[in-house]
Amino acid sequence: METLQIDLGSRGYTIYIDRGLLTNLPLYLGPADAWVVITDETVDNLYGRDLLRNWKHNKVHKIVIPAGEESKNLHMVEAILRKMLDSGITRSSCVLALGGGVVGDLAGFCASIYMRGISYIQVPTTLLAQVDSSVGGKTAVNLPHGKNVVGSFYQPQGVFIDTHTLGTLPKRQLISGMAEVIKYGVICDYAFLGYLRRNFTDILALEEKALKKVITRCCETKARVVAEDEKEEGMRKILNYGHTIGHALEIATGYQQYTHGEAILIGMHVEALLARKLGLIDQEYCSEILALIQETGINLQLKDTLLEGLIENMMGDKKNRAGKISFILPSNKGETIEMLLTKKEASGLIQDLLNMS
Ligand SMILES: NC(=O)c1ccc[n+]([C@@H]2O[C@H](COP(=O)([O-])OP(=O)(O)OC[C@H]3O[C@@H](n4cnc5c(N)ncnc54)[C@H](O)[C@@H]3O)[C@@H](O)[C@H]2O)c1
Ligand SMILES: [Zn+2]
Repeated sequence: METLQIDLGSRGYTIYIDRGLLTNLPLYLGPADAWVVITDETVDNLYGRDLLRNWKHNKVHKIVIPAGEESKNLHMVEAILRKMLDSGITRSSCVLALGGGVVGDLAGFCASIYMRGISYIQVPTTLLAQVDSSVGGKTAVNLPHGKNVVGSFYQPQGVFIDTHTLGTLPKRQLISGMAEVIKYGVICDYAFLGYLRRNFTDILALEEKALKKVITRCCETKARVVAEDEKEEGMRKILNYGHTIGHALEIATGYQQYTHGEAILIGMHVEALLARKLGLIDQEYCSEILALIQETGINLQLKDTLLEGLIENMMGDKKNRAGKISFILPSNKGETIEMLLTKKEASGLIQDLLNMS
């Protein structure tokens, strides 16, 4: 079993990574007067039922939500909180989030506000959640105004990653998780980019050694960044490489056409080209990044009719300052910097890039 420590003083916790961990999960958990497992229908069928069948604790409740991003809203929060109250969940109880990023964000948010906050643990079952969303304590739900606009910084008591669960994950979801994996290499770990290039096929084939290394390395990076800047006041921003354009693309296509990871792959592709165009990186390094993104096999072409919407959406980005759009761009091998561009500058540059590709 691999273990990693998130260094946040009294809010610190451990990440456990192992194949088959879920089978014995109850043995690893601390005391609680009751547990409430929050999961979605798909994950419940695959793993939730077995988990509860083997769990001898006399007070384990389960709340199952429909799978998908549509569940990440305030109505669902209220429904969950009501069920927790009906089940007699107290401040000494603990929430267990079993699922992908949707379940993790939603369950974490509910835990953060239930009776002003009760403990929760993350048991992520998608690659995206195992390398990104379950670590770092960001919780949120969506409003019609935008994604993740209501939420909290609320750290879990622990993160339990069972790599075995990725065996049932659809390929499209696996590729989506790879977007964040590649992102870690570009933002601060050049050696890891080389590892990904050499082992791409093994990783996608879920070869255990490669998979464990990838998840551990990504969690280490995220842990380091979060320990330095828990509330995204500075350094944590680097996690947003590919996300300025990626988020804008998700909004422009109504969250229907692309998964989050697919939008981020396209975002990282265009933002690497942007860094090249601004002279921040040389052609060789730019090609290295692009080649890895292309390995995922997703269609990176963007219609230029999307441009206007993209720029408008970028103007609403949470990272923006002084009316300028914030981009996190590669600046050197394994390094990034923030560039602020005016709407006009960004629009001109991206228009040129879309025409070229
Ligand atoms: N909190 C953060 O720091 C953070 C970071 C990145 C993303 N996010 C959020 O994460 C969400 C996306 O997460 P996601 O990509 O995990 O999506 P998701 O939770 O919707 O999971 C994707 C799909 O895979 C299914 N699934 C989950 N585990 C499975 C398994 N082992 N086998 C088969 N199917 C499985 C789910 O039922 C769902 O249909 C977004 O809402 C995003 O905003 C949060
Ligand atoms: Zn992301």
